[in-house]
Amino acid sequence: MTAGPRFIAFEGVDGVGKSTQVARLTEALQRRGRTVITVREPGGTSLGEAVREILLNAREIELRAESEALLFLASRVQLFETVIRPALEAGSTVISDRFHLSTLIYQGIAGQLGDAHVRSLLRGVLGERRPDLNIIVRAPLDVCRERLSGSLDRFESRDGFLERVHEGFERLAAREILGLPGDRIESVDASRSIEAIAVDVESLVCGPAAEEKS
Ligand code: ADP
Ligand code: TYD
Repeated sequence: MTAGPRFIAFEGVDGVGKSTQVARLTEALQRRGRTVITVREPGGTSLGEAVREILLNAREIELRAESEALLFLASRVQLFETVIRPALEAGSTVISDRFHLSTLIYQGIAGQLGDAHVRSLLRGVLGERRPDLNIIVRAPLDVCRERLSGSLDRFESRDGFLERVHEGFERLAAREILGLPGDRIESVDASRSIEAIAVDVESLVCGPAAEEKS
């Protein structure tokens, strides 16, 4: 059995470089002989992809803040039970591009639902179905904006929203806001090269310059 975290989530503002690090960590762990699956939120199941389309793109569907949060949770529960849990039970490592801390920041801190309500939803619905390690990928907002290309989704296009999201993740990384009880939250400085960030991520997951025994 592999030591160290086996369910890892990357968190942070849109464009900061999460997907890039998901790919880098996947390759690094595979080189160490681990079986790795990657998932993205919302998505990863047929329900999740349909929910993703509604949440991100179907702007003609009016969504109340609470309905929006519950759709993220519906997608997440489906993903956990049909993909993540079986993979963990089979001994694989699971790397997720976002998980519950995105809901805490986007819907709770930056959005309209409020911190307390979102926490109680997350605790009630997810319980312990959460990552062993959450890595916040952080960089100044102008760096993220520069990296963010293409059209903005429903969330990115709300006025002042990215600023509030950015501040929320910064405060989470500084431990001014806590995650849910039991969450392990670390952060990496992503204003540097992809390579330098990947080295820090690998040492968070595997220990400093650790040689993993298979
Ligand atoms: P996210 O998943 O957080 O939205 P991505 O990983 O898709 O971000 O990265 C957004 C863009 O920034 C991509 O074009 C990617 O190649 C680029 N990028 C990612 N990390 C870095 C970095 N450290 N330095 C420069 N460009 C980066
Ligand atoms: P995506 O394109 O996957 O993220 P990124 O731009 O980082 O590559 O889009 C996911 C969007 O959904 C993003 O704007 C964040 C938002 N989101 C929430 O509002 N709440 C959540 O719980 C999750 C998982 C995502």
